[in-house]
Amino acid sequence: EKVYINGEIVPHQEAQISVFDRGFLFGDGIYEVMVQIGDDFFYGKEHLDRLTSCLKKINLNFDVSILPKEIEKLLEVSELKDKDCLVYIQVTRGVAIRKHAFPKTATPTIVMYAIPFTLPQINQNSIAAITIEDNRWHRCDIKAISLLGNVMANDHAAAQGMYESIFIRNGRITEASHCNVFFVKNNIVYTHPADTYILDGITRQIVIQLCKKLQIEVREEAILEEHLTTMDEAFLSGTTTQIASISKIDHHAYSEDGSIGPIVKRLQQAFLELKE
Ligand code: PDD
Repeated sequence: EKVYINGEIVPHQEAQISVFDRGFLFGDGIYEVMVQIGDDFFYGKEHLDRLTSCLKKINLNFDVSILPKEIEKLLEVSELKDKDCLVYIQVTRGVAIRKHAFPKTATPTIVMYAIPFTLPQINQNSIAAITIEDNRWHRCDIKAISLLGNVMANDHAAAQGMYESIFIRNGRITEASHCNVFFVKNNIVYTHPADTYILDGITRQIVIQLCKKLQIEVREEAILEEHLTTMDEAFLSGTTTQIASISKIDHHAYSEDGSIGPIVKRLQQAFLELKE
């Protein structure tokens, strides 16, 4: 695989990052994950706008508007032009002697790569999830590269053969380790509000728009842990997950046979149409 570093595209074995890069030392940086379908980035503008707003939140000065041209070059060299693929983008604060406060003169380090990735037509597999205490920091709205809380949570799920861990903070369901979480009760769709306790997923925003289009009532309200078992349907949203039905959380099954509930089905169908 080829890797983009600060304007150069090199084989990944040759790519070099300073040990003093603040991304490496502090996790001081922001990332994005987006997918290209055919010749078009799926909600690419929204992903790049979120990158801009997250960089602003951490006072990292970098002009995202140079990226579309650079991504084009990367795709060309990676032989992925007009092909289904995933692009990872990471902007860190750059190289400086290790001091906690932001350096005055560091130049941001930009790393990107593109790999073949095909989104499933419709995510037909329901997934199982497990709940876990949300012990991450209080700025989950920032798409920071420091993801230790998320990777530990996801590994906890993977160790038990499950796809996701669902975070609970103060008795409220927030999100999952790399997805947002939705519930359905009496034909009303619920998801945690986009405050500082979740990442406001682009796919989450798409789901909310689709609900409105399909005239399904949607409420940005957190579901309490104690109400988990009273919900009719549950699902995840995310760039790589799309819309995935959740068949089971902990010991509670939403459907005995793993079949997908009616609202999730409608949303998946409407989501599929967006990609065409
Ligand atoms: N994860 N919540 C968290 C904590 C996430 O890391 C992600 C995305 C989402 C969904 O956001 P979006 O719909 O914009 O992808 C929600 C990416 C895919 C990742 O870390 O690989």
